[in-house]
Amino acid sequence: MDCAVWTDAIGGAHTEDVISGVLARLDALPELTVDALAAVLATEIGLPDTSRWLGFEREGRCRTLVRRTDRYELIVIGWLPGHGSPVHDHGASACAFRVVRGDAFEERFPRGAEAAGPRILTTHRAGTVVRASPGEVHRVANAPDANEPLVTVHIYAPPLAVPPVPRRPRRSSPTLQPRAST
Ligand SMILES: [Fe+2]
Repeated sequence: MDCAVWTDAIGGAHTEDVISGVLARLDALPELTVDALAAVLATEIGLPDTSRWLGFEREGRCRTLVRRTDRYELIVIGWLPGHGSPVHDHGASACAFRVVRGDAFEERFPRGAEAAGPRILTTHRAGTVVRASPGEVHRVANAPDANEPLVTVHIYAPPLAVPPVPRRPRRSSPTLQPRAST
C-alpha cells in the first residue's frame, strides 16, 4: 500500500534535527530499557519534525521506518480516525512511544488472558510518552470519531522481529487530508 503524504497540510516545512537528536541519544545509551526509551522520547517532538516520514493509508495505520539498527528501531506511524493496531505484544522488545498529534486510545490486557478483555483503557494526549515493557499486551487506536489524525513516534529495543518496510511516503490523494482540528 502507498502512503498519502500529509506534508502539504502542515506547511511543507520539516526539520530532521529533532529526530536526529533522538537517534543520537539512542546510539549513545549503553542500555535501552523501557525507561531509557521513554526518557529519550521526553524530547519535544513537533509534527513538522516527523513530516519527512509521516504518511497515511486508507486501509490502516501507516508505519514508516526511520532507522533500524541491531539495538533498536524508530518508527513514525500515521493513523486516520478509526485506524487501530491488533491486540499484540512486542515479544522481547521494550517499547515506548510519544503522541505527537491527536489522541491515542490504548487498551491494556492482562498478560496471557487477552480473551478476558482489556484491563485498562487510556486516552493519551499529545505530548504523552507511553511505556510498554517486554510482554505487555495492548492495542492502540485513533478513535473512529476522532476529529484529527493521530501521529505517534515509536521506539522498539531490540527491533521487532518483523519490521515495517522502509519507505518514504508518496505524494498522492488529497482525499486523505485531515479534518480540521478543534
Ligand atoms: Fe505496541
